Amino acid sequence: MNEKIDITLTINGRDYPIRVEPRKTLVDAIRDDCGQTGTHIGCEHGVCGTCTIIVDELAVRSCLMFAVQASGKKIRTVEGLADGDELSVLQRAFIDNHGLQCGYCTPGFLMLATNALEKNPQIDDEELLDVLASNLCRCTGYQNIIKAVKAARDELQARSPA
Ligand code: FES
Ligand code: FES
Repeated sequence: MNEKIDITLTINGRDYPIRVEPRKTLVDAIRDDCGQTGTHIGCEHGVCGTCTIIVDELAVRSCLMFAVQASGKKIRTVEGLADGDELSVLQRAFIDNHGLQCGYCTPGFLMLATNALEKNPQIDDEELLDVLASNLCRCTGYQNIIKAVKAARDELQARSPA
């Protein structure tokens, strides 16, 4: 059935009323219908994590959700991390620690790690490794991504000690 459905996606606080086929994936709707192309597509099979976004406080792979399932939910993408020209602590840490090369996987890692640090600001190294292990990068060898996320965690903790 190809009949289109009217839904509203709320991305980074802005409403996007769109009309989509029920089978359209969330990542395709975010990119094609809402014009928010910061979220990247890799495998389209839930394997690489490149398409990771935050939906209602949960990190999800947006290639595995249908757009209609996200209607009315609070969606956050990489475009919402910076405050104007000011990068988030995590974004800055990726730059300072050379946590990216081609940058293709970066939006997914940023959203995954943002969610992990928000859920548990005291997350320890082992748990952090466990979380980050779910996403793939073809360039960096992971060491600098891990270093960047740890640096952001430490800086955020120093700013707001428990
Ligand atoms: S594109 Fe979604 S997990 Fe790879
Ligand atoms: S920086 Fe190139 S895929 Fe990760």
